[in-house]
Amino acid sequence: MSTTLSALEVVPSGAALGADIVNLDIGAATDADIAAVRTAWRDHLVLRFRGHSFGDTAHLEFAKRFGPLDISPNTRFSGQPWMPDYPEMSRISNIKIDGEATGSLGDGELVWHTDMSYLDEPPTGSLLHALEVPPSGGDTKFLSMYDALETLPADLRKAIEGRQIKHDQTHNSSGTLRKGLEGVEINDVTKIPGAVHPIIRTHPETGRKALYLGRRARSYLVGLPVDESEELLDALWDHATGNPAIQWVQEWQADDLIMWDNRCVMHCRDSFDPGGRRLMHRTVILGDRPY
Ligand code: SIN
Repeated sequence: MSTTLSALEVVPSGAALGADIVNLDIGAATDADIAAVRTAWRDHLVLRFRGHSFGDTAHLEFAKRFGPLDISPNTRFSGQPWMPDYPEMSRISNIKIDGEATGSLGDGELVWHTDMSYLDEPPTGSLLHALEVPPSGGDTKFLSMYDALETLPADLRKAIEGRQIKHDQTHNSSGTLRKGLEGVEINDVTKIPGAVHPIIRTHPETGRKALYLGRRARSYLVGLPVDESEELLDALWDHATGNPAIQWVQEWQADDLIMWDNRCVMHCRDSFDPGGRRLMHRTVILGDRPY
């Protein structure tokens, strides 16, 4: 017997960001559903779809309705896709088979970051689908970079107005050197490879301004002496990440799908017990140059 879901509902988390999309089978979403999801995404920055089981094809087709997808970074850096049948999909996992990793990013902490900000055209958004979750730990926290900017003390805001930030391409959020970048000079932040973007960016759909920090390590405020850049960046990072009132925590359940907006959100992940299994499939929506 088939079940018809009633109309889609948006249930805000009550925190500064985050909402649940209730009563939506992502594999059967109409154009009107997608329009409602887009509006909710703009308003709440991070969306959670909970309580429905679906497979990789449904995930992929749903993600594509928000824009063209990136090819998995593992393909770009190693030439070896994690999932040959789904080259746009990455596997984020600590699970090993015969000692070989079956996904990236392991079981350690992932520091606060915005996905792939080191690219000239960083992704608009990312989707993460939980297939297996450990009994505890591995929560993912999200942070509103609109709020981080809007609550910035006036002197800090003045110090960064009109400035550009260089984003380090060499390391990922678990601190691992990316493949193909071995031997690159990493001790001089002014020479590190990676894109340069405005540190205050404008969201192309909402017109709101957001702080755009990327990753702390090896970032650089272009044109400043390195010690001044470091001091200013430390102050910005303390402000942005030190305020739980502008954060929301995702405690994963199997089958959860989370979709976040990289143009106005940073995220980080807690470590978890290496004995627990965590398996996520991720897709990334391509984006444009920040302005
Ligand atoms: C990521 O940063 O893309 C992965 C986050 C997570 O594993 O929760």
